[in-house]
Amino acid sequence: MKHNLLVIGATGQTGGDTAELLLQRGHRVRALVRRVDERSERLAGLGAQTVEGDVLHLGSLAEATKGIDALYFTYPILPGLMDATANVALASEENGVQAIVNMSQVSARRDFTRARDVGHYARALGYSPRTLTRAAVAAAGVGAKEFIDRRVVLEGKRLLAHGDEPVAGIGARLGFLDTSNFVKYFVQRTGTTPTTFRSRYRPARAAR
Ligand SMILES: NC(=O)c1ccc[n+]([C@@H]2O[C@H](COP(=O)([O-])OP(=O)(O)OC[C@H]3O[C@@H](n4cnc5c(N)ncnc54)[C@H](OP(=O)(O)O)[C@@H]3O)[C@@H](O)[C@H]2O)c1
Repeated sequence: MKHNLLVIGATGQTGGDTAELLLQRGHRVRALVRRVDERSERLAGLGAQTVEGDVLHLGSLAEATKGIDALYFTYPILPGLMDATANVALASEENGVQAIVNMSQVSARRDFTRARDVGHYARALGYSPRTLTRAAVAAAGVGAKEFIDRRVVLEGKRLLAHGDEPVAGIGARLGFLDTSNFVKYFVQRTGTTPTTFRSRYRPARAAR
């Protein structure tokens, strides 16, 4: 079934991915953007209806939520979160929006460097591991453990490709006390060692 969906924060990282995925699935997507720029134009090119607005202004949300079945809401960790959330809730209620997906402000990055087990995140969020796994499958198409591992590997790749830190330091930063465990983990999931991965991006730093 196709829905009329609003994505708030659609020019950002999670909102952008969400808008793109929903368009790929054939939904009608309205993207709330703060201004027209190359990011909003890209969304329009993908088929989204872009509307300019600011979640701190109830008026723009009242317009943006008209005719919307469900919306995705994310807001950066900045002052205004409570006002923005209240505005979204109010406008949604007034316009009969049936569902809101609110991206939690619990940072996804805060503890993924310390914990890779599903139980840890399930406890932190107050769900059972089974519920969390079901939610991960529904949202991302992979189980919770796989989702966590992908996030750790992605951060490892980012640090290898864009930073100067030696592999041992990156491993430690990602919660591996023993570098060889980090290397094994990375190889299992990427088919390549951290050093080889880095050498493809940063030939001059491959030896680190
Ligand atoms: N719990 C979790 O698992 C998890 C995971 C990821 C993220 N998060 C949380 O979600 C937040 C957002 O993540 P993100 O990576 O998508 O952030 P992001 O890339 O910074 O995107 C934020 C978006 O919000 C828009 N925005 C900011 N202020 C606005 C306003 N007043 N009105 C309308 N739009 C506004 C930005 O537009 P402009 O670019 O034009 O300013 C941008 O599109 C993070 O701060 C983090 O706390 C939580």
